[in-house]
Amino acid sequence: MRKKIVAANWKMNMTQGEASAFVGTFLLEIGESRDVEVVLVPPFTAIAAVNAALEHAQHIKVGAQNMHWERSGAFTGEISPAMLRDLFVRYVVLGHSERRTLFGETDEIVNRKVRAAHEAMLRPILCVGESLEQRERGDVEKVLSTQLRGSLAGLSARELQETVIAYEPVWAIGTGKTATAEQAQEAHAFIRQVLGEISEEATADKIRIQYGGSVKPDNARTLMSQPDIDGALVGGASLDPRSFALIVQGAGEK
Ligand code: PGA
Repeated sequence: MRKKIVAANWKMNMTQGEASAFVGTFLLEIGESRDVEVVLVPPFTAIAAVNAALEHAQHIKVGAQNMHWERSGAFTGEISPAMLRDLFVRYVVLGHSERRTLFGETDEIVNRKVRAAHEAMLRPILCVGESLEQRERGDVEKVLSTQLRGSLAGLSARELQETVIAYEPVWAIGTGKTATAEQAQEAHAFIRQVLGEISEEATADKIRIQYGGSVKPDNARTLMSQPDIDGALVGGASLDPRSFALIVQGAGEK
């Protein structure tokens, strides 16, 4: 059984004060259930504040939105895997479509980061997904296969198992247009098939694949009840503690 994993990608939002207030309300809303793994992914500058606010809720994990692949050095403005470890970060989102399109990250760059994350004992949340143009051209499978094979090259079976994949169709991110549960399930099943080809079926069966792209409290449960959808990566709706708590609860409902 794959444990569902729901992550809040706050992107470039939330000051330290806002992040602490979020956690306070979220913990009251979320209750005691531990059926779902929850990851908060603040901007770097709010990680310490989130850690402090989670002092009595250590089962909730903290992630980062990006990192560099080198350990240290002359890379002005960058953050290393070791620096994230120093902040007790457990997960790191890599290859988000905003990084790919706005900051020129290629599969090769993403692969370096994914491998560096594992070396530092951080678990990557690797984002893949097609643009609207690529979907309309009928290239969904080609795009997903290329991104997966390029970004995951050189990983051991154990590292693959500890990687989370986030399927985020670019046309659904921040647009209010969600993939239907059927469209998402179809892409997830294909991703699992490719993961099986990269390693083997038994490994692919253990890898969690999140859906991302306009996930909201009212569509979360239907999406996450699909057989190959093992959680969600939530942007906009994760900025409100009540709506993010409802999404987490939706993941826990059978
Ligand atoms: P969204 O973002 O939920 O605002 O569509 C998802 C993401 O980019 O991770």
